[in-house]
Amino acid sequence: YLQPVILSGGSGTRLWPLSREQYPKQLLPLVGTDTMLQATALRIQDGGDDYTLIEAPVVVCNEEYRFITAEQLRAAGRPSNHIVLEPVGRNTAPALTLAALLAHRDKADPILLVMPADHVIRDADAFQIAIKKGIPHAVAGAMVTFGIVADRPETGYGYIRRGKVVDDAYVIDRFVEKPDAATAQTYIDSGDYLWNSGLFMMRASVWLRAMDHFQPAMADACRAAFEGGKQDHDFYRIDKAAFESCPADSIDYAIMEKLATASTLGIDGRIIPLDAGWSDVGAWDALWDVSEKDGAGNVVRGDVMLVQASNNLVFAQERLVACVGIDNLVIVETSDAVMVADKSNMQEVKQIVARLKGQK
Ligand code: GDD
Ligand code: MG
Repeated sequence: YLQPVILSGGSGTRLWPLSREQYPKQLLPLVGTDTMLQATALRIQDGGDDYTLIEAPVVVCNEEYRFITAEQLRAAGRPSNHIVLEPVGRNTAPALTLAALLAHRDKADPILLVMPADHVIRDADAFQIAIKKGIPHAVAGAMVTFGIVADRPETGYGYIRRGKVVDDAYVIDRFVEKPDAATAQTYIDSGDYLWNSGLFMMRASVWLRAMDHFQPAMADACRAAFEGGKQDHDFYRIDKAAFESCPADSIDYAIMEKLATASTLGIDGRIIPLDAGWSDVGAWDALWDVSEKDGAGNVVRGDVMLVQASNNLVFAQERLVACVGIDNLVIVETSDAVMVADKSNMQEVKQIVARLKGQK
């Protein structure tokens, strides 16, 4: 059994003013008509002879977003009665642990396909092929990652050094989460590193064993939160106090970095190369990259008029936006905020958000 697990907890501050606290990135239709959460739920198809897909995903999200999350999944035709609600965010390692406990309880040791709710994967077939390649490794008890060809020293990603080839995969030699720019550059130069896509695949029991070994306090807090929880319609409400006491850390730091160096546990790390038009759409320039453009390289949405304009991204929500003679700009118009920015500086949008938060 392949159990999709969707981690839906981010806020996407660099996509302001479209992403807001009330409307985080994964709940928005940034590319096409489906929201990113819907696209994620629909991405994984039945596996024929290779695996049996459990269609209803396990979704882990903040309780504040429970109704919109449930509604979007229903509208996409992938309703879930396994929406785990977090009273507070404790990052991805605890979120996945809750999902693993729930999935393991319902089906004996399914294979979890862990998917961030806020990524774009353009080539669904290539994605499906990579998943199929990962299955036998996960069945055999490995922790499977999906690696992207790294072409720039991006510091927001994890880097995985590939070791020897085993079937369709590489052994994970080393996993380094978010290195500094100079270190990232040496990884790029070496040609031996792939970016971690943030997708993972492993048996539920393998994840839980790794947590017990490397993060016993986190594992215990998650178990207590899970066991003290209860089903409420489609939602699984965990015990608040127990989860609040859980240390916060990501899958990457809490487990993956450690797993790659500790051989004692007997859990192998594997990398499946993924060449499927992957993007984590972290900022507006990344969204421009993955979107359909007109002949002059513009990405437009809504009521937009362009004259002699090239390589821009212009989103109009409420009003007509008319632009003349502009190049390489990002313009996002919403009911209460308009942003005009140079597309080369998109990482700095979070400074605006930080300033706005400071004013509250
Ligand atoms: N439920 C839940 N709870 N989900 C969460 C939480 C949480 O507390 N925190 C984050 N998430 C979700 C986010 O919504 C996102 O879909 C996913 O988990 C990954 O979290 P990010 O915060 O976006 O991680 P990152 O982008 O810094 O780094 C990860 O992704 C990179 C690729 O995009 C790492 O896995 C990197 O190694 C990787 O390169
Ligand atoms: Mg991310």
